[in-house]
Amino acid sequence: QRQKYIRNFSIVAHIDHGKSTLADRILELTDTVAKRDMKNQILDNMPVERERGITVKLNAVQLTYHAKDGHDYIFHLIDTPGHADFSYEVSRSLAACEGAILVVDASQGVEAQTIANVYLAIKDNLKIIPDINKIDLPSAQPEKTKKEIEDVIGIDASNAAETSAKYGTGVPDLMEKIVHDIPAPKGDVAGPLKALVFDSAYDDYRGVVLSVRLYSGYVKVGDRIRMMNGKHEFTVTEVGVNSPKPIAKKYLMAGDVGYITASIKDITTTRVGDTVTKVDRPAKHPLPGYKERKPMVYAGLYPTSNSKFEELRESLEKLKLNDAALEFKPESSKALGFGFRCGFLGLLHMSVVQERLEQEFNMSLITTAPSVTYKAILNDGKVKKVENPYDMPDPGTTKEIEEPYVKVTVMTPSKYIGAVMKLCQDRRGQYKTMRYLDKYHVDIVYSMPLSEIIYDFYDHLKSKTRGYASYTYELEGYKPSDLVKIDILLNGDKVDALSFISHRSFAYSRSREMVTKLKKLIPRQNFEIPVQAAIGAKIIARATIKPYRKDVTGPLYGGDQTRKDKLLKKQKEGKKRMKAVGKVVIPQSAFMAVFKTD
Ligand code: GTP
Repeated sequence: QRQKYIRNFSIVAHIDHGKSTLADRILELTDTVAKRDMKNQILDNMPVERERGITVKLNAVQLTYHAKDGHDYIFHLIDTPGHADFSYEVSRSLAACEGAILVVDASQGVEAQTIANVYLAIKDNLKIIPDINKIDLPSAQPEKTKKEIEDVIGIDASNAAETSAKYGTGVPDLMEKIVHDIPAPKGDVAGPLKALVFDSAYDDYRGVVLSVRLYSGYVKVGDRIRMMNGKHEFTVTEVGVNSPKPIAKKYLMAGDVGYITASIKDITTTRVGDTVTKVDRPAKHPLPGYKERKPMVYAGLYPTSNSKFEELRESLEKLKLNDAALEFKPESSKALGFGFRCGFLGLLHMSVVQERLEQEFNMSLITTAPSVTYKAILNDGKVKKVENPYDMPDPGTTKEIEEPYVKVTVMTPSKYIGAVMKLCQDRRGQYKTMRYLDKYHVDIVYSMPLSEIIYDFYDHLKSKTRGYASYTYELEGYKPSDLVKIDILLNGDKVDALSFISHRSFAYSRSREMVTKLKKLIPRQNFEIPVQAAIGAKIIARATIKPYRKDVTGPLYGGDQTRKDKLLKKQKEGKKRMKAVGKVVIPQSAFMAVFKTD
């Protein structure tokens, strides 16, 4: 039976603990990639990922391993992204596996981010093989690290692998552990087709390429398939595996991990987490765990030069081909001209898109502060969706304003329960439940306004728990809140792109914070600039940007040409990311000022 010789697993690790290096060694050891072709870290294939050193894109590679028992085993190594914005994608790719290798740097020990993914794996009943990596380092403490894995994560580490991914030490033993410890996939080849989509990516030639794990049945070219949640139907044009280049196969069957193409043009028709079945013999139920991913935060993206608007549209369209969660539509701002209101899964997703636009498409952008979508219930009963704070209708015309709430689950070592609860309560959270996962860990569940967690909740959570807590959240629905729109006036003019929404109880403190920050961020002019925050016509905070005195820059830099040049160059660089609004020049940082709370 073929399934007996298949192992599906992924590698879970904290950033920099050596996941990519280990994957490279495994590829080498299985001769999947000839050494001379070996580009470092083949799995991460997008430039932004390399630059940021994070894995965003999922990928699966098939390898053949000749084991000590004389048999050839087929390994499917499935890569996972590592940030809270993508925890759903992680959970789907883990769902495609029977096991996971938990890589921990022997000189650093267990770190927070790993824990969240390990828990996803434990909840999915995956077999976890701990791997103590970087044992070549003089500061490595393998025994201490094992104990930490047992204490902090609560799994047995006595049998852990010990490796130096850098030099390859211990990797052959790890391969044997994969064969012996991770169960072979099960699944009825004769049953109706059930394939989990754990990734989808757009390819110019083949259309959308679905990464799938088959749980039952088989699929081949020509089959008519249906997405069980999305309802769309297609005809299969190719099935195969990545090794790491795509290799077409006759069929994929239960237990296999591979790809399906079917001349699919629109990535939004084939969402991650959906189940593929056959039209003529459909499965009764889709695989569990499907969620439709919707943007959680919205921000305006504006080209610094208005003539680049069409170019920005084309660039967004190209990104969208590969990014089912990205949404955008044109909007205009009095201050910023023509741009797009874009929807993102979270702030990391937003910064990835922003960076790709800048690096791959060479766009120079101004981004407005991210915001959630509000609902205004108007006096006549109509509901208005508000994606841009500036569009919030006047208080006189609205009955009430609703904001999105999320169910936040914080996983933390029990000694930080108090700190976590305080943080959630300070952010308008309503306590729901608490559950001990084991001796050391609890899940604390709060209902919280989405706007209170998307910005810097993660940073605060990390600093209050020394990095040991992690969280996931899902949309609960809309609830009424006492919210107000705050407008910002510069030199007496309202700047639409700086408006923001605040809970009434924070309105004064946040307005004061905002004008103080803007005062620091906006460059001085040769005239005085008042910075004001207002609710309706009422000014509630004010600061003044003093005019610069002409003689300051003159004599100071007068004699030194290189310094002067440097200053000019710096100013020129800075200008790219600035926007003149009336007579005032506003830098990019000022547009973001509102969401960075102290
Ligand atoms: P992300 O891709 O950012 O998630 O990181 P990663 O977990 O994939 O880590 P990566 O493989 O990029 O390794 C991070 C750094 O650690 C690199 O500089 C590696 O060369 C180094 N490294 C990885 N494994 C070892 C090891 O066994 N020993 C030593 N000394 N260094 C290692």
